[in-house]
Amino acid sequence: MNYLGIICVSFIIFPSIVLSASNKTVFCYFASWTVYRAGDGKFDVSNVDPSLCTHIAFAFIGLTDAGSVSILDPWESNDDGGYHGFKNIVALKEKNPNLKVLVSMGGYNEGSQRFSKVAENVSKRKALAADVLRFIKEWNFDGFDIYWAYPGHGDGSNPRIDKVTFTYLLQELKETLTPEGYLLTAAVAGTPSTLNTSYQISAISKIVDQLNVLSFDYHGSFDPYVGHVAPLYPSHLDQGTAVTTNVATTIQAYLNEGADSTKINLGIPTYGRSFTLSDKSNTSLYAPISGPGLPGPLTAQAGFLGYNEICRDYSSWDSYWDDEQKATHIVHDNQWVGYEDVKSIQYKVEFAKSKNLGGIMVWSLDTDDFRGVCGSKYPLLNAVIENLK
Ligand SMILES: *[C@@H]1O[C@H](CO)[C@@H](O)[C@H](O)[C@H]1NC(C)=O
Ligand SMILES: *[C@@H]1O[C@H](CO)[C@@H](O)[C@H](O)[C@H]1NC(C)=O
Ligand SMILES: *[C@@H]1O[C@H](CO)[C@@H](O)[C@H](O)[C@H]1NC(C)=O
Ligand SMILES: *[C@@H]1O[C@H](CO)[C@@H](O)[C@H](O)[C@H]1NC(C)=O
Repeated sequence: MNYLGIICVSFIIFPSIVLSASNKTVFCYFASWTVYRAGDGKFDVSNVDPSLCTHIAFAFIGLTDAGSVSILDPWESNDDGGYHGFKNIVALKEKNPNLKVLVSMGGYNEGSQRFSKVAENVSKRKALAADVLRFIKEWNFDGFDIYWAYPGHGDGSNPRIDKVTFTYLLQELKETLTPEGYLLTAAVAGTPSTLNTSYQISAISKIVDQLNVLSFDYHGSFDPYVGHVAPLYPSHLDQGTAVTTNVATTIQAYLNEGADSTKINLGIPTYGRSFTLSDKSNTSLYAPISGPGLPGPLTAQAGFLGYNEICRDYSSWDSYWDDEQKATHIVHDNQWVGYEDVKSIQYKVEFAKSKNLGGIMVWSLDTDDFRGVCGSKYPLLNAVIENLK
């Protein structure tokens, strides 16, 4: 084999060797609707590198009031004329036989109403568990991820009982799926204040195989000021509950409440949250804003930028490293963007290892630089893997 051949082969097989040797989870969410993005933003199963994840979850399917699975968008999921997302994502296992492919139910658009109705009624819980089993058998998924955002919170939730009925629902799913060899995972809230009102942590940690902590969106243009999307540590400028809205405090809260550390995947975003400053001369943390940042060319959403568009289009903006929070932001004129980069990921993965966590969850594949426009492909996911060693 020539020199070039050796380089190429070791480069290609390296990540999966690292993953199996470290025995850590890299749980990747596949956001199916990103197939509708324009131009270089368009993301589909063919853009996934199945050697970079130990688990991939198709997001999302929905549910009905009666307790059955509902398919949210047949064109992107399963219909004859369309795109066959379910079939294609499961077929990634042919390229990485160790890969586990799950399907995720819920998400922010689903909210709480139907989950709450199903969870409170024992016959509906049984119906949902049975229909989930039928569904994952039909499509050959390896397991089921429940993404109820969040028990006891949002329209149609029942703050009085959701926390307990969520445990019952997980127990029903466990009793239905585990004997058949399927995985059961849950996406859980990233803020310490939600944790106690949504979950019986110790109980649900015993039931599920993995907990995907949504440890991001701590700050965004829903606040009246700028802040980092997913700071690892607090800032000396934090006041009130902001002292707890960071990754380390959240993970520690799960551990303190009795979660099994080896079941926790620390969530990392592949995107940033952007702001328009009220006064462009004040760019400090907690500087006031007049609204969300301008939409990006690929994701086209005010207040949100993918890493792929930040590295491609905003690399000339002034960049700052906040060593206290271990977070990066960029500023240009009246725009301020806090986002995850290779350096901030290094600190998060080190933190995850120091707490003996199961691994890292990544939301989501489609806003990493998956085309390699700024360098090699998937820089953020590769940074996760490199640092998990
Ligand atoms: C639970 O749901 C079933 C239908 O699946 C319904 O017949 C029953 O009345 C419900 N129970 C309660 C307490 O609402
Ligand atoms: C959660 O509740 C327990 C008591 O049930 C309390 O000790 C703990 O501080 C609370 N955690 C948070 C993050 O509020
Ligand atoms: C920037 O805004 C923050 C929050 O309002 C304020 O505390 C700080 O003094 C301001 N800094 C400057 C330089 O205006
Ligand atoms: C890693 O391997 C050890 C020993 O085989 C096992 O006990 C542990 O649960 C594994 N951790 C994960 C996250 O799979």
